[in-house]
Amino acid sequence: MNFENLQKTDPVCHQFVLDEIERQETSLELIPSECIASLSVIEALGSPFTNKYSEGYAKKRYYGGNDVVDQVELLAIERAKEVFGVAHVNVQPYSGSPANLAVYNAVCEVGDTTMGLGLTDGGHITHGLSVSATAKYFNPVLYGLREDGYIDLEQVERLALEHKPKLIWVGATAYPREFPFEAFSKIAEKVGAYLVADIAHISGLVLSGVHASPVPYVHMVTTTTHKTLKGPRGGMIMVTEKGLEKDPDLAKKIDKSVFPGLQGGPHDHQTLAICVALGEALKPEFKVMAQGIVDNAKALAEALKGYGFELATDGTDNHLILMSVGKGRGMFVQDALDVAGITLNKNTIPNEPVSPFFPSGIRMGTPIMTMRGMKVSEMKQVAAWIKRVYDVVAPFEHVVGKEEKKQQRKEFAEFLRTNEELKVIRAEVRELCSKFPIYKG
Ligand SMILES: Cc1ncc(COP(=O)(O)O)c(C=O)c1O
Repeated sequence: MNFENLQKTDPVCHQFVLDEIERQETSLELIPSECIASLSVIEALGSPFTNKYSEGYAKKRYYGGNDVVDQVELLAIERAKEVFGVAHVNVQPYSGSPANLAVYNAVCEVGDTTMGLGLTDGGHITHGLSVSATAKYFNPVLYGLREDGYIDLEQVERLALEHKPKLIWVGATAYPREFPFEAFSKIAEKVGAYLVADIAHISGLVLSGVHASPVPYVHMVTTTTHKTLKGPRGGMIMVTEKGLEKDPDLAKKIDKSVFPGLQGGPHDHQTLAICVALGEALKPEFKVMAQGIVDNAKALAEALKGYGFELATDGTDNHLILMSVGKGRGMFVQDALDVAGITLNKNTIPNEPVSPFFPSGIRMGTPIMTMRGMKVSEMKQVAAWIKRVYDVVAPFEHVVGKEEKKQQRKEFAEFLRTNEELKVIRAEVRELCSKFPIYKG
């Protein structure tokens, strides 16, 4: 990658780029919502399409000079329709959250009842969390998980029959199992609700056939483009044949909701990069990679279980694992792993015993490790490091009380700074990463 102009004109910002590349190259990224975009995607994102304004849709723009932009957007739409097998696609949402908001805006009135998975059970903020605009303007009823960590379908049905929602979300940000799209569809039909699958995390797995597709069962699908889809940051909304059968105007409603309902000009450089990523997703290698993500997640899960760790639902069907690390101890494990060069996030676990601020688990995923070329043997190594780091922070327990917490944070920071075992693991992680270069290879 060449940043020679940036180097000349703004050395400070150039150094930021070099530092971030160095961080990504030398660390193990286990955050399941991230990916490694190809150099082609990054070049498209850095192209002069960023200069253009093109409010509206192809052939119906408010500004002139959009002949080339129209071709880009139409090709992105065609490719998305092909890879996902849907009737209509809008590629303009700036990201996943605006895409979800556009769905509400398309089919709900202010005050309408909606349903989604609660945040502490793995749902996304835009599915109706109390602090989100989706709860300010609509009336979300949240469903949850059973004791075993799977979605509680009986509860979904009971709540749907009781509250008659206009819109039901199926999808999550931290759920390690396949979504029961067909069962949701039967429930949505009973109450006449629109059913939307938010496949932000799993879209790359869905298009590869590694995860069941929601398309035959739902009316709309939303996704981000920067997770397992391996594209630039962005969002898409798709309308299925089933959606058009329920509501022949649904495609128009979605387009109107995105623009002019919520957004102005689309980010054309982002649309080009999405188009490139979708082109990559059409290639056979993409499916091999998607299968590898799941194989690696299963291998990592098994290896962690071998060390006695407890996993939500006892394993995974997708790219993601949720693991208990003890009451309120997620942040200790996350911070110590960070020092060791392994990046992931603390997370609530099913039936969380403490709170989202002091969660009792960690969430990890295999997309980036797989995109770097790592396989099952590396997953065993990663599990071993996680166990070692977990043991290092074993003396730190969740405490209550403001002063106790403050004191403990101070001690913990010093502990992280001086611990020798974490330094040893950091060097080992660095060594492994050097064998799987991202951009330097
Ligand atoms: C299920 C789900 N939906 C929507 C989003 C929102 O995407 P963004 O962060 O791009 O707004 C996310 C992001 O993590 C997600 O996990």
